[in-house]
Amino acid sequence: MKIGPIELPNNLFVAPMAGVTDRPFRQLCKRLGAGYAVSEMVTSKRELWASLKTSRRLDHSGESAPVAVQIAGVEPAAMADAARYNIDRGAQIIDINMGCPAKKVCNVFAGSALMSNEPLALAIVEAVVGACAPRNVPVTLKLRTGRRESERNAVALARAAERAGVALVTVHGRTRTQGFSGSAEYDTIAAVKAALRIPVVANGDIDSPAKARAVLRATGADALMIGRAAQGRPWIFREIAHELATGTPLPPPATMAVRGWLLEHLHDHYALHGEASGVRSARKHIGWAVRALPGGEAFRAVMNTLDHCAAQVEAVAMFFDALALRHPRLPQPASVACAANDDALALVA
Ligand SMILES: Cc1cc2nc3c(=O)[nH]c(=O)nc-3n(C[C@H](O)[C@H](O)[C@H](O)COP(=O)(O)O)c2cc1C
Repeated sequence: MKIGPIELPNNLFVAPMAGVTDRPFRQLCKRLGAGYAVSEMVTSKRELWASLKTSRRLDHSGESAPVAVQIAGVEPAAMADAARYNIDRGAQIIDINMGCPAKKVCNVFAGSALMSNEPLALAIVEAVVGACAPRNVPVTLKLRTGRRESERNAVALARAAERAGVALVTVHGRTRTQGFSGSAEYDTIAAVKAALRIPVVANGDIDSPAKARAVLRATGADALMIGRAAQGRPWIFREIAHELATGTPLPPPATMAVRGWLLEHLHDHYALHGEASGVRSARKHIGWAVRALPGGEAFRAVMNTLDHCAAQVEAVAMFFDALALRHPRLPQPASVACAANDDALALVA
């Protein structure tokens, strides 16, 4: 699997998720089987690049290659500038966001709203490709199926983007107006795949190895992108990779291994976000990790009252130590729900 000249270890991608897929989380997913991860979106508004939030998003120190950065905006020249700026800071692949229904993005006609203005969408693609090509940096595009059900134009837009020089297209199988409701559909993704020569990535509601296999079969896609199902369960990538390769399921991870991954993630998280902010933003990752485990809900309530990293780490370690005594392997939930989380719901228009 290649993006332009860049070879990837496998075809399982971590979806960009604002507020979730910071560098520590991307690194953890890559360590646990993901072949590729894209940063959270970085705005094309130059005046925000120095803000704490954006500068954290621009920090790729220690990230394993390839470093891929998603940019979002509405002005072709500003998007081209954003691409150059990110390449100067280590980006090896630039992804254009036309897939996110976030209100603050769509109100200014960016993200998935751009899909209903094809000339502007294409002008952005051309400008970004124009900025990246001289640096030999491939450009990728993330789409939804269209703005609304009656306007499913992903095939037309993806074709035009391919002609303009885009190296890969990802399609989330929902329209913009759907937000995260209903189920992802895969027919439009299959149509995009059939229409293009560049690699196509299928995205939406992939939450198990069985679903991964079904989506690959239904779409013929070259790769799969997984978002919400990786929250609190980043080892889903190696579970999928193993089952696709061997046809047999990987046993659930040892509880003490999960403890180790989570603690390692927390330390990386605090190092990037600092004590005060890190202890708060780590709560959602811990909550996702324990939500389906015995005693997880009660633990989450207590953990949310802790205000210091050391106390948070100690509580998590004790929770998993106690769990491991009863369950040497991580207990499996009856079914893993793939619902939009609170952050996503807050973002969706
Ligand atoms: C919390 C959250 C934040 C997201 N932020 C972005 C983003 O910054 N850029 C983007 O293109 N998509 C974003 N998405 C959409 C995901 O990349 C993905 O397309 C979507 O969640 C569907 O995949 P899934 O069913 O595997 O979660 C976000 C989704 C969630 C849940």
